Amino acid sequence: MVVLLRFKIPILVRMLIRSGAVVKIIMTPAARSFVSPLVLETLSKNKVLHSISEESEWANHVMLGRWADLFLLAPASCNTLAKLAHGHCDNLLLAVLLSAVCPVVIAPAMDEDMWHHATTQKNLKTLAEIGYQMMEAEYGELASGLSGMGRMPEPETIFQTLSAHFKEKEILSGKKALVTAGPTYENIDPVRFIGNYSSGKMGVAIAKRLAHLGAKVELVLGPVQLEVSHPNIRVTKVRSAEQMFDACINIFPECEFAIMSAAVADYTPESVANEKIKKQEGSLQIQLKKTKDILKHLGTLKSPQQVLIGFALESKDEKAYAIRKLNEKNADAIVMNSIRTPGAGFAVDTNQVTIFEKDGVETAYELKPKEEVAQDIVEKMLTIYRQKFIE
Ligand code: CTP
Repeated sequence: MVVLLRFKIPILVRMLIRSGAVVKIIMTPAARSFVSPLVLETLSKNKVLHSISEESEWANHVMLGRWADLFLLAPASCNTLAKLAHGHCDNLLLAVLLSAVCPVVIAPAMDEDMWHHATTQKNLKTLAEIGYQMMEAEYGELASGLSGMGRMPEPETIFQTLSAHFKEKEILSGKKALVTAGPTYENIDPVRFIGNYSSGKMGVAIAKRLAHLGAKVELVLGPVQLEVSHPNIRVTKVRSAEQMFDACINIFPECEFAIMSAAVADYTPESVANEKIKKQEGSLQIQLKKTKDILKHLGTLKSPQQVLIGFALESKDEKAYAIRKLNEKNADAIVMNSIRTPGAGFAVDTNQVTIFEKDGVETAYELKPKEEVAQDIVEKMLTIYRQKFIE
């Protein structure tokens, strides 16, 4: 790994410079024992920074954090990941990371046992939830001489991730995207409602991904505990299917993109009791009426300039139902997840989706953290956009 590290980062820096990027490098004291700062200074054509006060000169971490369009943390050690996840700030790298206003991509690298340790996995999850883009560590030869998980992704893979970021950002910058997330609650009386188990995590991850790539996101969020704070995300909190419908109908005409991940109630009580319904002898019947199908309605309003993506949560005949929803709701794609897949669907941190497109293309993805599923969905949405409007 020492040898590989010595080569991997300089190779990556050379690729970035050749692609026209301006690269400034910060090294921790540990990194300096792996790669010579002189090599990186020569390749990047910029002084390598390593401490807050360098040769009596103040390295302005706030300005550095604001200067970059993108911050790559590679190789991200177990130690730096742990410190960042908890907001520690005891070196220049962490100070700049905490001051950064740009998207941050993290490429972890460590030995396998450290990678699998519960605290490392918890820290990786925390960082993904904060909104950092986490790259997968790879399987291969490690510093210990053993083989296993924890190897830093290859320079080509990191370069492709960074290039994709800029390509996606180019399309999304300044564009508006509507995202719905969470359940809806349909009131029965002042103390009871009909709801579902949706946590809103999938939709919030999509909203964060879009915001991270420069889109102006309108997040219409059902009743969940999640707090979303991002300068590019405006949150409209709603409770019922009707409120979600009204919010979406207002927002959709201004948007180039819409991703409808909310689990909207299909039925709502005919009438809401003003007082708490008292227990009586025998059974209780609540008459329900159909709610409006928001996605289907947006499908009728959709202009040729808009891309509309829906979800389908199924428990059987997944493909047939997903394709039916794609056609009946006039969506450009349907993201199908099945409750039959362990680890997928509501109230978990992972999901496994298959995306069905209008032209018959079907893409199945692995089970992944919802933040990574969000990346796949946004990438697919942009492929559809490019096919429609650019190519
Ligand atoms: N949807 C919607 N408005 C509704 C119901 C669903 O906008 N009243 C949207 C969901 O946000 C999702 C898609 O429609 O994007 C499919 O939702 P799903 O619950 O899987 O299917 P339904 O259309 O409700 O059909 P069914 O419950 O019979 O599977």
